[in-house]
Order: sequence, then C-alpha cells, then structure tokens
Amino acid sequence: MNTQRVLVTAASKHGATHEIADALARRMQEHPEAVPAELVAASVPVERGPDPRTYDAVVLGSAVYAGSWREEARHFATEHAATLRQRPVWLFSSGPIGDPPFPPDEPHDVAALTHLIGARGHRILPGRLEKNRLTFPERAMVTAMRAPVGDFRDWGLVRVWADAIVAALVGEVVPTTPRADRGPAGADARRDSGYGVQEHGRQAT
Ligand SMILES: Cc1cc2nc3c(=O)[nH]c(=O)nc-3n(C[C@H](O)[C@H](O)[C@H](O)COP(=O)(O)O)c2cc1C
Repeated sequence: MNTQRVLVTAASKHGATHEIADALARRMQEHPEAVPAELVAASVPVERGPDPRTYDAVVLGSAVYAGSWREEARHFATEHAATLRQRPVWLFSSGPIGDPPFPPDEPHDVAALTHLIGARGHRILPGRLEKNRLTFPERAMVTAMRAPVGDFRDWGLVRVWADAIVAALVGEVVPTTPRADRGPAGADARRDSGYGVQEHGRQAT
C-alpha cells in the first residue's frame, strides 16, 4: 500500500486559523484508520508556499476579513488550480465570531474557489477575535462594528470535521500521485502533525 499524504494548509493573520489547521492535521493523524491506511497529514502554513503536487489530498482554509479570504489562500488556489482539481480538496473558513455567529454570511470568494478547484465541501469554523492581537485600525473597526470579542473556536467541531474527512478518504481508491511528481518526501512537512485518508462516495462537507 502507498502512503496517502494529506496537506492541511491555511492563511492566517493573527494565528487562530493556523492553529485550526494544526488541530485538523493532528486529529487526522490520531484517527484509528490513519495508521492502517498509511495516511499522513501535514499542517503547513499557506504563506510558506507548500506544493500540493507532493500530496494526495488537500484541506485549504483561510481567515476571513471584510467578507473575503486572505490573498495568500486565494493565490494558492488559483496558482495550483490544475493540481487541486485532480485531488480531493476540502475548504474551510475561520471567520464568524460570537453566538450566534457574526457575520452569518459565507465569504464572497468561496463559491468561485469551490468551482475553480472542484472542492468537495466548505466548512465555516468559528474564529477568534482578541483586541490585544489586532492592529490599531482593526481595533477601531471592530469597536465601531461592536463585533463580539473572544475565542469562539469550536474544537469539537474541528475534530468532527477532521474525522469526517478521514472517513471520506478511507476506503477510497485515490490514485497515488506518481512518485516522480512528488518531489522530495517531507519537503513541506516540517510542521507535520497528522494523517488522513478518503473514500469515493462518502463526502465530508
Ligand atoms: C478587522 C476584522 C474584520 C473581520 N471581518 C470578518 C468578516 O468579514 N467575516 C468573518 O467571518 N469574520 C471576520 N473577522 C473575524 C476573523 O476572521 C476571525 O477573528 C478569524 O478567526 C481570525 O483569524 P486569524 O487569527 O487566523 O487571522 C474579522 C476580524 C477583524 C479583526
């Protein structure tokens, strides 16, 4: 059996989304099916320019600012669209804060990116907004908007979604990326945390 490598990569400004990506990869790696299925998940910040050709599946996320994904995540999706279309891909947004989540709308770019790379699903995951981490203009903006402040990340939801992705991958006959196309093993995986697998027919959304 060939190792199936899962890249979890996300764009973050103040760190909350990178921590979600790390937790997703870690949970995938801890999944009971990961070892028997030889699934490996690595969390690599999208700002470091991971190469999706060296992975068999990708989870791509971004923090949301003013209704949009961060430029680095959009750039990753468009630059690697051809590669991503050939792999199972899931998207997530770290944005809304508060209870109920504010703002409730899906980020503007997600529908177009989903279409562009043929993503299997998009998950909105609550984020973190702590004033002491913000720039002065950001602080002024969130004060004016009366945005809720705090860490609203739902680690239970993160774990459930990671499990759903692994479940979707396990049993799926994912054509293994030809070794020649992979580049040096582990080139992007210096912050490796997890492993994941998938199955056609079952979808994690
Ligand atoms: C100035 C500002 C604008 C924001 N705009 C949005 C938005 O339009 N939609 C949304 O869902 N979240 C918005 N947020 C919340 C952030 O996306 C959320 O705090 C996120 O978890 C931050 O991730 P990061 O720490 O990885 O940058 C905004 C936060 C700030 C500070």
